[in-house]
Amino acid sequence: MLETVRWINAEGKVLAGYEADVPLLPGKLRIIDQTRLPQELVYLELDDIDGIVAAIKRLSVRGAPAIGCAAALGLAACAQHLDGADFVAGVSRLADQLAASRPTAVNLFWALDRCRTKKNIDELIQEALAILEEDIQMCQAIGAHGESLIKEGAGILTHCNAGALATGDFGTALSPMYVAHAKGRTFTVYSDETRPLLQGSRLTAWELQRAGIDVVTICDNMAAQVMKEGKIDLVIVGSDRIAANGDAANKIGTYGLAVLAKHHGIPFHVAAPTSTIDTSLADGSLIPIEQRDPAEVGAAKGVRVYNPAFDVTPHELIAGIITEQGLHRPPFKFN
Ligand code: MRU
Repeated sequence: MLETVRWINAEGKVLAGYEADVPLLPGKLRIIDQTRLPQELVYLELDDIDGIVAAIKRLSVRGAPAIGCAAALGLAACAQHLDGADFVAGVSRLADQLAASRPTAVNLFWALDRCRTKKNIDELIQEALAILEEDIQMCQAIGAHGESLIKEGAGILTHCNAGALATGDFGTALSPMYVAHAKGRTFTVYSDETRPLLQGSRLTAWELQRAGIDVVTICDNMAAQVMKEGKIDLVIVGSDRIAANGDAANKIGTYGLAVLAKHHGIPFHVAAPTSTIDTSLADGSLIPIEQRDPAEVGAAKGVRVYNPAFDVTPHELIAGIITEQGLHRPPFKFN
């Protein structure tokens, strides 16, 4: 399994999650540098706030659950260097810096809120490791709840990367695929390349191919034709924030896929942990949408560019939301 985001203790041991018998010693956040994939699989080891904030901003670590885990472990790594007398206020300042890195994935704020109130470094490390461990469990539960959607011989379309690279373990949208594959089912995943930063072709295709799952990369503008050709039986995507009514924000282009799926009579599913559900927002119009650097789009010099990183799929277009608790069907109601 890819260890996208992990904790390294002072002895250099990589912890997969909270292990009660391992002393909680000063350590570092370790992440895969996803900007270097698929060319090379390299890791970054960080314990400085500027380095961790920059890594989240430039998408070295990305995907809603992985951002939450990295922020929690990163906060713990930085907080080791705080003066004990100033601990709680210092942690709060560091958390504010991390919270300013990206606005849409609610897992970031959810994880930081859990860590902010910790009184000392051991408590903070334990909480951060608990967040990672819960994320690992969540991925496995989503896989178990979603795998029966994937029938033998199916064609599945996904967008962006909601796999192992976006979480602490198997992923959200890709987790049912990993479980179905482990059970011996064969199917084909169509991975949208996902302009402008190509999380689909660089990351999803890379991790599925590595796992031995049949994957085909398509350009974003091919989805309608591929659906019309009857190649797609199911769409599964992840989410960065789900509002109380089930409206779901995900990588730009997801909404268009949901409209296309409706037109072609293809069920459209979202897979996400409950830590991605923000019941404080009544509907998706309230979800903050990140605007990214126009340079990412690669337009001619001087041409104005609009570059929203996410869009919101209205709940009416969503056939089911798979969380670690089960498969939620409309009308969506979350606690
Ligand atoms: O900008 P990114 O790469 O962080 O966007 C990620 C997505 O849109 C994912 O689909 C979402 O975070 C779910 S990850 C399990």
